[in-house]
Amino acid sequence: MADNSLTGSQRFDSMASEWDANAVRAALADSVSRAIIAHMPVRRPENALEFGCGTGLVTLRVALRCRMLTAVDTSREMLRLLNEKIAAGHVPNITTKLLDLAGEDGDSTLEGSFDFVFSSMTLHHIPDTASLLSILNGHMSPGGLLAIADLDAEDGLFHDDASEEVHSGFDRDKLEKMLEAAGFTSISFITVHVVEKKNRAGKHASYPVFLVTALKPQL
Ligand SMILES: C[S@@+](CC[C@H](N)C(=O)[O-])C[C@H]1O[C@@H](n2cnc3c(N)ncnc32)[C@H](O)[C@@H]1O
Repeated sequence: MADNSLTGSQRFDSMASEWDANAVRAALADSVSRAIIAHMPVRRPENALEFGCGTGLVTLRVALRCRMLTAVDTSREMLRLLNEKIAAGHVPNITTKLLDLAGEDGDSTLEGSFDFVFSSMTLHHIPDTASLLSILNGHMSPGGLLAIADLDAEDGLFHDDASEEVHSGFDRDKLEKMLEAAGFTSISFITVHVVEKKNRAGKHASYPVFLVTALKPQL
């Protein structure tokens, strides 16, 4: 039974210990990691940022291709599990940060500018998409690359918990316009995965996942 009193971060805290055991999520993270790596700049990013890293299913793989990576999330438990993996694997180039970039004043504690920013399945959890895209743009260096994976527009039944306030995926044309308005160019979408699952109505359904890449123009 869904607990309507949970905040977003408490909900993810409560799911963290089971996160990696879900085969549907693991397969999705695998496809997204491969697609992000395939679209990374030829030159290794110096200073990358991941928004909504969770337990690091995508993080740890993309980090192998970055010099430094800052991984942020609003769930303490998700970050605790990622920190355990970082310690166990002796991964020196990932720094984790408990941070709500989309929250009021949340981004003011994030220092530096990033030449590569990526995210997987987090955008639909952020109420104000346009504002977040603009915040991300503000944290990027000119010429930097943004790569976001998320659900295409869906029937609203993807999430098991009906009380979760999320976007029902994204219409690609509308998201493209938001990216342009936030200052990005060279925007390109591909389909990287299709989640096959029983949805909240108990019906088998297919949910395509896109990867959108976009550039912050050079000055
Ligand atoms: C669906 S999970 C995806 C986790 C991970 N990227 C993966 O693919 O396994 C969404 C993640 O975004 C985080 N999140 C939600 N809202 C956030 C926010 N405003 N700022 C940062 N992280 C957020 C959640 O705590 C959660 O870990």
